[in-house]
Amino acid sequence: MIRAHGIKKNYGVRTVLNGIDFVAERKKITYILGSSGGGKSTLLKILIGALKPDDGQVFFHEMDITKLRGTGLDPFRKKIGMLFQQGALLNSLTVGENISLPIREHTPLDDNIIKIMVKMKLELVGLRDFEDLYPGQLSGGMQKRVALARALALDPEVVFFDEPTSGLDPIVSSVITKLISDLNRVLGITCIVVTHAVEEAMKIANKIVILYKGMVLAEGTPAEIRGSSDPIVQQFITGSPDGPISFHASSRDFREDLLVE
Ligand SMILES: Nc1ncnc2c1ncn2[C@@H]1O[C@H](COP(=O)(O)OP(=O)(O)O)[C@@H](O)[C@H]1O
Ligand SMILES: [Mg+2]
Repeated sequence: MIRAHGIKKNYGVRTVLNGIDFVAERKKITYILGSSGGGKSTLLKILIGALKPDDGQVFFHEMDITKLRGTGLDPFRKKIGMLFQQGALLNSLTVGENISLPIREHTPLDDNIIKIMVKMKLELVGLRDFEDLYPGQLSGGMQKRVALARALALDPEVVFFDEPTSGLDPIVSSVITKLISDLNRVLGITCIVVTHAVEEAMKIANKIVILYKGMVLAEGTPAEIRGSSDPIVQQFITGSPDGPISFHASSRDFREDLLVE
């Protein structure tokens, strides 16, 4: 359903993505794993058409969305939802108003219908009757769920998630992960998740794609990835400080090493 081909992206002299190829299948959950600073958000922005790659194509139903500009992207945008890493809710609007924004923007539906749609989306994320609260009155996990309800507002075919559980405690993280799995199973939504949370991917992914130094290091089912004999893959999934991936003890972060020279 989404096919990336030879995606390259530089920021100035720095190469962040150096030829990414993968396929995310329809109605499946694809996890793209990479370390912090490894270019995950950059790749996601390219996949949703928000950022142009320096090279390569992204096909959505055989349409190359990297060729589309401005309003040309609208038909594609209507079919996708995006859960941003920072939630990106508007604090001056209620939960209900936040969720209704994309519906008002893209459809001519009247207020009563929109109200019902908002209620349905909140029900889907387990937040019935929360529409009149403001984002500031909700916990981080609840804000994530509201952002997810908004991503679902236009009944997307595909939802993209950027680090959906980062900054959340383990229990709330599992709730969000289960929600992604449920949305996929119950509504048949194609889910594409970028994260560094390996265990989460192992639990619910149909396919895992591991990014390393701007390229795809490995691709397969969780079982295939676990069974990989590649020492870099093994270090990646076990998070061990010892192995082929060098590690800056001071930053506790692979950031610099994962960039292509
Ligand atoms: N707009 C930008 N201009 C310059 N450098 C950027 C920009 N966005 C991201 N970067 C850099 O590119 C690298 C990859 O960033 P990002 O895609 O956000 O990684 P991730 O989401 O995996 O943490 C980082 O080193 C980051 O600092
Ligand atoms: Mg990121």
